[in-house]
Amino acid sequence: MIGRISRIKEGSLIDYCDSLDGICVEQLEGFFVGWQYPLTPAEHISLLARSSHFLLAIDRESGRVAGFITALSDGLLSAYVPLLEVLPLYQKQGIGRELVRRMLVKLEGLRMVDLLCDPPLLPFYQCLGFHPATAASIRRPRPIGKQ
Ligand SMILES: CC(C)(COP(=O)(O)OP(=O)(O)OC[C@H]1O[C@@H](n2cnc3c(N)ncnc32)[C@H](O)[C@@H]1OP(=O)(O)O)[C@@H](O)C(=O)NCCC(=O)NCCS
Repeated sequence: MIGRISRIKEGSLIDYCDSLDGICVEQLEGFFVGWQYPLTPAEHISLLARSSHFLLAIDRESGRVAGFITALSDGLLSAYVPLLEVLPLYQKQGIGRELVRRMLVKLEGLRMVDLLCDPPLLPFYQCLGFHPATAASIRRPRPIGKQ
């Protein structure tokens, strides 16, 4: 389903979409910037398909996916937002904020919406209604079965 279209300042015309219909791997190149083991576009599509909720920001002109957000939810009480990324070329045009805002609309009614972020990004999330919290996590940078 394609959402309202936003024209962004000097930037691109962006469609917001929560379906993988018509999305191919070529449109998903370039994500997981800075990751030691970035997911391939095929793995990325699989990850999106397995997430309870996701949204894509799509450049209307090129068809390229400019950004995405995912959420994992029990559908009753809580959700976790593991991934939000906007490609460097499209950053600072309001796409990240819009993806979070639209995901929060999808998660309306849940009592807990949690995410982890580095301290410098806290103000970004606070502007969107999140509060600082203490968290604990396990990170395994090397994928299982890969050297
Ligand atoms: C964070 C991210 C999704 C923001 O996307 P975006 O489309 O550029 O966001 P918006 O244009 O809506 O808002 C830009 C705001 O993001 C915040 N921001 C982005 N990167 C930041 C960083 N590294 N440190 C601090 N603030 C940052 C700033 O508040 C910025 O506002 P400014 O332009 O006034 O400085 C994007 O920078 C990104 O993909 N970063 C790499 C992946 C990442 O860190 N994801 C978040 C995981 S919790």
